[in-house]
Amino acid sequence: MIAYRIHSPSGKLRVSFLLSPGGTPGYAVHYQGKIVVDSSSLGFTLKDAQPIKFDFEMISSVEDTINEPWQQPWGEQRSMLNRCRQLIVELKEREKPHRIMHLIFRAYDDAVAFRYEFPEQENLTEMVILEENTRFQMRGNPTCWWAPGDWDIYEHLYTKSKLNQINAISKRDFPGLAQTYIPENAVNTPLTMQTDDSLHIAIHEAALFDYSDMTLKVDTTSGLLSSNLVGSDRLGYKVKRSLPFSTPWRVILVSENAAGLADSKTILNLNAPSKIADVSYFTPKKYNGIWWDMHIGKNSWDKASGKHGATTENAKKRIDFAAANGLKGTLVEGWNTGWERWIGFEDREGVFDFVTPYDDYNLDEVAAYAKSKGVELIMHHETSSAPLTYEKQLDAAFALMKKHDLHLVKTGYVGKIIPKGEYHHGQWMVNHYQKVIETAAKYGVAVDAHEPIKGTGIERTWPNFVSREGNRGQEFNAWGSDGGNPPDHLPIVAFTRMLAGPFDFTPGVFNISLKPWKPNNQVNTTLAQQLALYVVIYSPIQMACDLPENYEGKPAFQFIRDVGVDWEKSITLNGEVGEFITKAREEKGSGNWFLGSITNEIARDIEIDFSFLPKGVNFNATIYMDGKDAHYKTYPTSINIEKASINSDTKRVFHLAPGGGLAISLMK
Ligand code: NOJ
Ligand code: CA
Repeated sequence: MIAYRIHSPSGKLRVSFLLSPGGTPGYAVHYQGKIVVDSSSLGFTLKDAQPIKFDFEMISSVEDTINEPWQQPWGEQRSMLNRCRQLIVELKEREKPHRIMHLIFRAYDDAVAFRYEFPEQENLTEMVILEENTRFQMRGNPTCWWAPGDWDIYEHLYTKSKLNQINAISKRDFPGLAQTYIPENAVNTPLTMQTDDSLHIAIHEAALFDYSDMTLKVDTTSGLLSSNLVGSDRLGYKVKRSLPFSTPWRVILVSENAAGLADSKTILNLNAPSKIADVSYFTPKKYNGIWWDMHIGKNSWDKASGKHGATTENAKKRIDFAAANGLKGTLVEGWNTGWERWIGFEDREGVFDFVTPYDDYNLDEVAAYAKSKGVELIMHHETSSAPLTYEKQLDAAFALMKKHDLHLVKTGYVGKIIPKGEYHHGQWMVNHYQKVIETAAKYGVAVDAHEPIKGTGIERTWPNFVSREGNRGQEFNAWGSDGGNPPDHLPIVAFTRMLAGPFDFTPGVFNISLKPWKPNNQVNTTLAQQLALYVVIYSPIQMACDLPENYEGKPAFQFIRDVGVDWEKSITLNGEVGEFITKAREEKGSGNWFLGSITNEIARDIEIDFSFLPKGVNFNATIYMDGKDAHYKTYPTSINIEKASINSDTKRVFHLAPGGGLAISLMK
């Protein structure tokens, strides 16, 4: 076994490159002497070729330090530092066909990452990959927060269990999901784990381009996790690439506490610098929209139902509300023709039209009206998972946006992909989502994708990919088809899905009981928690999703008016996966701070030490906290609003109700 190791800059994390006597490459990860990932092999199974797995010898190795400061145009933190040790190992097969593979390892202070690189070479010009055989040998049966490795959707609830109890197959046919396919006992990434000695580990990937999503197949007996790429029944392989190419990074985040995972910037750092010279056409914003109306059943997207939401008149009213309350965007869904045939239809090709409004919606008039009010109309493109229909119209659709000076589109991919046999998370769709991003960039358009490919930090390279869904959003609370999101959902999401980047969750429900629209459902949080979500969840676009009449006259709405949406820096003050989390963020430009804290179904007292604030500055704080009798089930709207002066010496204990939250604005 050849072992070649590098340490992270702090020396705490170590990755070892291993080469077995048979020439199989592998690696292992240690944190201060503790095993994080035990010896694990690497390789590929190919179509019509020998596997790339055996008989390698090391030709060279190069060690290097990376120390690269960079700035984000928008984000959770302006100033970034990509700092790590890097090891590049050049491997060559001893026997024919003498194929060459490079392994690039990086040791960050909070993560180890590696990728495969295939340089241009004589005996290998194209790889048709049947499976990537990257392994992660876990030890000691860690506690896992996992969602099934569904090839078509990330909108499952998470389950907490020991690794040896993971049973993804039991999540097949989950109610309320538009498309789902779970072929293996595999999990989606980020997969977050906690070991018995309290290390927090998350496995994910970075820079997913022209490749398939990696799920992790679970061997419950041995604790072995193996890459299981999303496939294509139509093409009969998982990935096809011409050389040269590199795979996405395989990333293992490691931290002594849960907060350290949430604060990691490594996924972004692993991505290449921006390819967009100027993304100033996008500014982070809060927005409202004609949206919740449809999910609670008050209105509909289609016109034939007789309760069409997206009329010129309704849109103008929503824009007025946005303008009056400092929301800089209004989303209008259901504006274009095709909604009569979008869900549950096999033949969806050619149905949606991305340039033709319904006749009760005057796009020219609404766009001009919004502009006159200082609000940007947000475009909506629901593809109904007919991406070829969308691709045909992409240029025309973005040209229409450009004509109206519109720079933000929300896309959607509800239902099974056409052509049949493709899945949302396979290479073919990864390339579709990317085509949309790159075409949008040409027209100065930013994208918020729903039913997307998961986030892997590519917004560093393509900063017009501003947000995505890719998880159970607020909409599940409206449908209530499966009881809505339970109170531990977001305290889990904060340490799982949110490691993958911006999440368009759409917070801000004030009518928590959903009466009269959905008398049998409710949102499983308190009102104070809905406010806290603007800080806890990160997205550079944050919706105030409820109907205007539910905000009218509510003092708590002031928090949504005030809260920032673009950040100088962000800190996770405390948290435990699935239990609670507290975040504080400094608004870019103003120096104001905002704090949000949420808990699961368990009430708790949280002590906040405000020493993160700049010294010697008194902040005018408005504190929005659960009322004495608040409870997400029985009295969710009980809220106390208090003014206080807070500075960096302040320490205070706050009480969070079951399903509760805390939101504080700290204005200079
Ligand atoms: C699902 C999206 O998540 C939701 O936000 C949208 O309203 C519908 N699709 C319709 O496009
Ligand atoms: Ca969705």
